[in-house]
Amino acid sequence: MRIPPNEAPIGVFDSGVGGLSVLLSIRRELPAEHLSYVADSGNAPYGDRHAAFIEDRATEITKFLLASGVKAIVVACNTVTVVAIEKLRAWCPVPIVAMEPAIRPASGRTRSGVVGVLATSQTLASPNVARLCARYGNDAQILLQSCPGLVEQVERTELTSDTTRSLLLRYISPLLEAGADTIVLGCTHYLFLRQIIGEIVGPNVAIIDSADAVACELVRRLGFHRTTSLQSQAGYERFFSSAPLEQARTTISALWGRPVMVHALG
Ligand code: DGL
Repeated sequence: MRIPPNEAPIGVFDSGVGGLSVLLSIRRELPAEHLSYVADSGNAPYGDRHAAFIEDRATEITKFLLASGVKAIVVACNTVTVVAIEKLRAWCPVPIVAMEPAIRPASGRTRSGVVGVLATSQTLASPNVARLCARYGNDAQILLQSCPGLVEQVERTELTSDTTRSLLLRYISPLLEAGADTIVLGCTHYLFLRQIIGEIVGPNVAIIDSADAVACELVRRLGFHRTTSLQSQAGYERFFSSAPLEQARTTISALWGRPVMVHALG
């Protein structure tokens, strides 16, 4: 049976489970949409990989999602966006919503004039981030902090362990000492560390991310293309992973907040 275009699923992917933080925002904004999520956890983290590897993985996953009939794709990964988005958009036949660190809103919001950005090495080395800093850094000092090891901690669902806390302290302390009053979470995995980051920075430092903005942009794009779901019941979620399935099921269920089935990617 042919699925009406409006009821086709939306594909969402990340290097691993971090993009589930974006999927949660999408689910809140779009309760009726069917969602297919791909976690490439078997190949995470992407942050220290070569650009060619990340492009290849993004291409493979996009083809996989297209083969399953998605009507739109959300790249729930800052690293894939800065490395591969132009190439993906050049051939992908459905709309793609992508993300970048929320440097612009952060620089509009800081009162101390110092913004700290936590992200992967690949993201911070990209010309896109340099462009964002050049454009918005006149009014604010933007401090870029790469965070090796944090993605792995989230992949292991070690959200509050001593190791995670000490990594975060190491990365965030210099930003606070430099006067940052606004911290940008420039990697979707880090959203799952928001509670412990909040404890470290205290109540006077704002923590900003792009997940809700991505969900709102998706709503806008579906509306523009007239492909918003017309059904009134709740949409389904389907999860795919390149990690060993039992491990993926445990991790994704923990972060999604309820037990889910996970299928093998490919
Ligand atoms: N969630 C990805 C991001 O937003 C993490 C990339 C990685 O696997 O290093 O950048």
